[in-house]
This record gives sequence, C-alpha cells and structure tokens, in this order.
Amino acid sequence: MTIRTEDQSVAPGYDAERIEDAIRDNVWLHFTQMAEFRDPANHPLILVRGEGSTLWDAEGNAYLDLLAGIYSVNAGYGRRRIVEAMTEQALALPFVNPFGYTSVPAAVLADRLGDLAPLGGEARVFFTSGGSESVESALKLAKQYQTLRGYPHRWKTISRRVAYHGTTIGALSVNGLTPARAVFGPMVPGARHAPMSHRYRCPYCADAAACNLMCYDEIERLVEFEGPDQVACIITEPVQNAGGCIPPGSMDYFKKIRKLCDETGILMIMDEVICGFGRLGTLFGSEYFGVEPDIITTAKGITSSYAPLGAVLARKSIADAFESEAPEELPETVRAARTGGFQHGLTFGGHPVACAAAIANLDIMLEENLPGAARDTGAYLRQQLEDALGDHPNVGDIRGAGLFLGIELVTDKATKGTFKDAVLLDDLTDAMRQRGLILRNDGRNDPTTQLCPPLVITREECDRVVAILVETITDLGRSLGTVGAQFAAN
Ligand SMILES: Cc1ncc(COP(=O)(O)O)c(C=O)c1O
Repeated sequence: MTIRTEDQSVAPGYDAERIEDAIRDNVWLHFTQMAEFRDPANHPLILVRGEGSTLWDAEGNAYLDLLAGIYSVNAGYGRRRIVEAMTEQALALPFVNPFGYTSVPAAVLADRLGDLAPLGGEARVFFTSGGSESVESALKLAKQYQTLRGYPHRWKTISRRVAYHGTTIGALSVNGLTPARAVFGPMVPGARHAPMSHRYRCPYCADAAACNLMCYDEIERLVEFEGPDQVACIITEPVQNAGGCIPPGSMDYFKKIRKLCDETGILMIMDEVICGFGRLGTLFGSEYFGVEPDIITTAKGITSSYAPLGAVLARKSIADAFESEAPEELPETVRAARTGGFQHGLTFGGHPVACAAAIANLDIMLEENLPGAARDTGAYLRQQLEDALGDHPNVGDIRGAGLFLGIELVTDKATKGTFKDAVLLDDLTDAMRQRGLILRNDGRNDPTTQLCPPLVITREECDRVVAILVETITDLGRSLGTVGAQFAAN
C-alpha cells in the first residue's frame, strides 16, 4: 500500500506502515474476517475521495461505485451544498438532546417528510441514527401501539425469509438470514417468517406465465396460524435486497398485504432503508408499488450518507393513538402504554447536523429530480444489460426496479443451475474491482451481481459498467466450465 502524501494531511504522523498496523491490530470491520489482513499482502480498500459516482483509493486508483457506499450515497459524492449545511449547523449548535428537546433542522425535516411520505399526510417522524435502529424502533412502536389500543398480546411479527433488516437483536430477529442469526442464541420471541416472493425461483409459479400470488397466500396462512389477534406487524422491503434485488412477483403483492392488515388490525411496515429516497424511481419505495403502509423505516439515502441518520415515519392515526387518554376501565398494561408517549429513545436520533444534511439532500433530490433520474437511467442500464447479457449462458435473470438491479448468475440457463462457491464469488468481485468497479456480488441466496449506483450515474458510466460485466461474467463462465468462452467469441 502507498498512502499518497496529500492524504496524510488528514492523519498527521500516520504513514502507510502505521495505518497498516492499525488495520491489522485495531480496526474491526463489519461482517469481515479480520484474519485475512494478517497477511501483509492483503489490506482492505482504503478510500480517500469521491466525486459523482467515482471513488479513489489511497493509491490513486479510480472506481465506479456501483454500491453507492452501501446502497446509500444516493445523491453522489462531492455535494458541497450538503457539507455546507452541516458545517453551518455544527457551528450554530452541534447537538440537541432529543429527550424532550428538539432542533430547528429536526422540526423542518419532520415537517417535510411527514407531508411527502405516502402515509396519508401529516405523518409523525421518530428519528434514529441508522437503519437497524429504525427497524428496531418501528417494531417497538408497533408493539406499544397494539398494547395501548387494548391488544397487549399482539407481540408477534411477520417478516420474510432471506430478508435483511439490520443487526440489533430486534431487527435481527425479523431477519430471514439463518447464518446472521444462528450464532446469537434465541431471538426475540414471536418473530415469524414467511417465504419471500421470488418470481425467478418461485416454488409455486416460476414456470407459469404470471405470478399467481401464492407467495402472498403463505403470509395469509401464517397470520391465520399464528392468530391475527396476536400479530403486531408485517415488515417487508419494497424490493428485497438480500438474495439480490428481488421485487415481488406481482405488483398486487403489497396491495394484498395492505388489505390483510386493514382487515386484521396488523400494522404494515415498509422497510425503505434502501428503497427510500429515490432508489426505485419514486421518492419512497412504497410509491413504486402504489401502496400506503402504516409505518415506513428509512436511513442510508435520507442524508445520502453524508451523516448518520434514520427515521421512522408513522401514519398520523397511529401517532395520535399515543396521545389519547386511557379510560379507567382499561387494564393496567393498556393504561400504562398510553402514559408517557412512545417508550423509546436514542441519544443521536435526529442529530441536528445530520438533519441539516438530510434537508439539503432532500432539496437536491427534488430540484434535480433524482427519483426521475433513477427511473430513466435505471431503464437505460437495464436495457443495456438485457442487450449485452440477456442471452449469456451464465445470466439467469435480470431484475429489479429503478437503479436497484440484480443479475442472477447461473451455471446453466435452462435448468437455472446455481453455485454456492464463496471463493468464486469473491474472485469475481476482485476481478470487477481490478477493472474499476466496486459492487456487491451477493451470495446470501443464489449468487447475484447487484447494481445500486448513486442516482447521478451517467449513461456513459453505465456503458462502462456493462462492458466490465460482460468481460468478468464471461471469465466466470470459463471458471465454471460452461460455454462462457463461446459467448465471448460471439
Ligand atoms: C432493508 C434494510 N433494513 C435495515 C438495514 C440496517 O441498516 P443499518 O446498517 O444502517 O443499521 C439495512 C442495511 O443494509 C437494510 O438494507
């Protein structure tokens, strides 16, 4: 590794060797086996600068960031306007205690999001400092809401298998990823999981002409089995990330969940930590599917990741219930749930500097119509992928919405043959990186190359991405011993 001299201004006294030592001995990366960095030849990519959709590492190499940080730098890098808004707020007042106090940026942001969210208007906004906290908070909000309206035994949750909703124990409990949960012992009681909706590999209708929505029926059956009066909420992502950008099999899927929730009093939570803030081509991911949930969880793109922030947006009627008086005749648990408001708090929820960043980010998003850019550039990128890779023997499915696209990799197109080879997938990621692309090849279900760039990515940049994907996926085909080589020759 060589740390270029201009980068050392941010770390005086640290040369390349000291930074390598710190990585080897002190840094603990997330979901990462640190032992691999014991080998002096290995070190994680140290990124030092970004502009638009491009990142530069400490050695001066440039990459197109098709992961947008981690599905999160929606407005792209180098946004001076966001940084200036943060600086101004930090100088005026860097922090306000959210336990009973508020800041101007938090109030302004709540007002704007409350009106913009597809929640029937005047939604109330509970700020957090990230996605896991938003999910954790939404689950608690749903449970307290059910208790205060007289259903203290409604504490079960329904989510979907393979889904990722964060890592704190409550959020982890609704995750459907067995390896992420397995090492932590019992999860939160009552967390139940239904099959996901996955058209390409659907056990019910993958071979049929259209989705028959039996994936939704599984949710309804699970609700019936668990007892509708024991379920607090159903939580889903609009387009599921884990498993590789998986939209529901039918546009009616979420409308059916909405109807089920209306009929049973279960709260519908849309986890828009990734799908919110323009990603699918609409400001909120629920809008893409024409549905109004009860609660929306957000984070990541809310500030385009210039500052850590999350938000739980709740329908006005839900928030209002927390303010209603409890009649004497109600049981004590119910009365207790109505006093003192939402029994939950986080020191950094609604940090004023982060809220200032979010306001500037929202202005950019609306003025530049970044959701529209996600729609248009997403359609362009998808078409280029279809043209260049649609017939590739190692490409089984190209799917997604807006600028959240997945290419499922297979060993055999006809049989949808899959492979579970983490080394091969890591090699693929390395090969893409060596050619100037940062992205995730998701191996949590069947291997899928994910494309989730900043929404400002240009068509010319998309063309470069597609060219690199054709080369690297064809090389993968050679490693798998399929007809990839023949495809390249064509
Ligand atoms: C849908 C979804 N929910 C929640 C989270 C957790 O967010 P965070 O990593 O900010 O805690 C993520 C993270 O990727 C996510 O994709």
